[in-house]
Amino acid sequence: MRISFANISTSRRGALVVCATSGGELTRTGSAIDKSTGGSIQRAIASGRFSGKKGQILEILSPSGMKCSRVIVVGLGKPADVSGLTMELAGGAVIGRLISSGESELAAAIDPIKSSKIGAADSAARFAYGAYLGSYRFDHYRTKLDEDKKPSLKSLTVMSRDAAGAKKAYAPLDRIASGVYMTRDLVSEPANVKYAATIVDDARGLSKLGVKVEVLNERRMRQMGMGALLGVNQGSERAPYLLVMQWNGAPQRAKQRPVAFVGKGVTFDTGGISLKPSGGMEDMKWDMAGAGAVIGAMRAVAARKARANVVGVCGLVENMPSGTAQRPGDVVKSMSGQTIEVINTDAEGRLVLADALWYTQKRFKPQAMIDLATLTGAIIVSLGHVHAGLFSDNDELAEALSAAGKAEGEPVWRLPIGDQYDKDINSDIADMKNVGAGRAAGSITAAQFLKRFANNVPWAHLDIAGMAWSNKARPTVPKGGTGFGVRLLDRLIADNYEVK
Ligand code: BES
Ligand code: MN
Ligand code: ZN
Repeated sequence: MRISFANISTSRRGALVVCATSGGELTRTGSAIDKSTGGSIQRAIASGRFSGKKGQILEILSPSGMKCSRVIVVGLGKPADVSGLTMELAGGAVIGRLISSGESELAAAIDPIKSSKIGAADSAARFAYGAYLGSYRFDHYRTKLDEDKKPSLKSLTVMSRDAAGAKKAYAPLDRIASGVYMTRDLVSEPANVKYAATIVDDARGLSKLGVKVEVLNERRMRQMGMGALLGVNQGSERAPYLLVMQWNGAPQRAKQRPVAFVGKGVTFDTGGISLKPSGGMEDMKWDMAGAGAVIGAMRAVAARKARANVVGVCGLVENMPSGTAQRPGDVVKSMSGQTIEVINTDAEGRLVLADALWYTQKRFKPQAMIDLATLTGAIIVSLGHVHAGLFSDNDELAEALSAAGKAEGEPVWRLPIGDQYDKDINSDIADMKNVGAGRAAGSITAAQFLKRFANNVPWAHLDIAGMAWSNKARPTVPKGGTGFGVRLLDRLIADNYEVK
């Protein structure tokens, strides 16, 4: 879908969108159309249930005396509460309604909302952003899509009284969206197509944007002593890789220590010898969503040329059962030198991250290190599909992540960590074991495990198991891989680490 910006005009073809606030109050262009069509919008509002609620839609087909084929009124809710996220939701809702409606052109008049805090240019840009994020589709494996299900929309023109300002405000959003799209693609692809080697190939594509991409192969990882990560891949026929991406966007003179993102990239998680039940196992193709988010975030910061130094490190492995697989009870030695008793081969994400985290802090001395992982089913029990779990020993970093998540509509909720949980992972025969005692506080004991490999660098862990995939479409997040984390990480950099 092509997106462009223009001045407001009501003589457009295709679908014409206007906004309304609570109580069915039309914005300026909506009122103008209403007048010129003899009150047809107000009549439609009076005869139905449209009240201008956020994301609500009213359609008036073939309005008389107009060039357009239909007028769509989209609700924004209370004017004082209209924010960038509200505008995104409106854009996404409109796209959801029209994308396969048969319309090919869409023009949206985004008038300024009096008494809201968002200006004309930003509200138009955020509408466009929501529309673009909502128009994502993953259907390149469908060879027989019915004609009437195919997306028909080709172009969106967002009209604003500050079209030039809107275009400018949209430019970085389009780049961030390219990161979200990349993550959604990686997460949605099946494990026979995207595995360590092919994910690495995709990541290499980021070098076009100025990202330095390096890869450690199995031999190199063995030399470095990454026994925890390698143990997970031991049952697989596929080669593991540690992917290292660097974006050096801060001016040299700033000598900025990087912010590091570390991703769990288990390209398929069968559970290994501690085999998972077969029902729903297909979901474990997206057990690399942490790595996917890190790759997408690197794309976002590089594409918009963020003035910050950022590194992304992903542990890419496949957790398979086989004659060569690691066994419950095996003891592995991590790069840190700490030994781990592998009680459950299905608690593999933490084993991968143990070496990825240690490597990252040792090599890059980051000022902050944030890992993302679909780490525990328990986080879904705690927080459902509404918040990701946040764990950190650093209040400032935790606050910054919470604020970034809130601003971007990718909310996180902080859970506690501490010594009383940490002792649960002590082992009788090694430095630690990879599961806690029973099922109690499963997401927290997993976080405690990771903390032992952060080596006192300011660190935070996001457990995104409940957020990486969606079975229900939302206006700006279609079903499937959500791309969760890209916007949050990009915002974290933008608001806290960019050199002026
Ligand atoms: N990848 C899973 C966690 C997961 C579950 C992600 C559901 C997304 C949806 C992880 O590797 C895992 O298997 N965790 C175990 C840990 C347990 C063995 C301590 C779990 O959550 O059951
Ligand atoms: Mn597992
Ligand atoms: Zn897993």
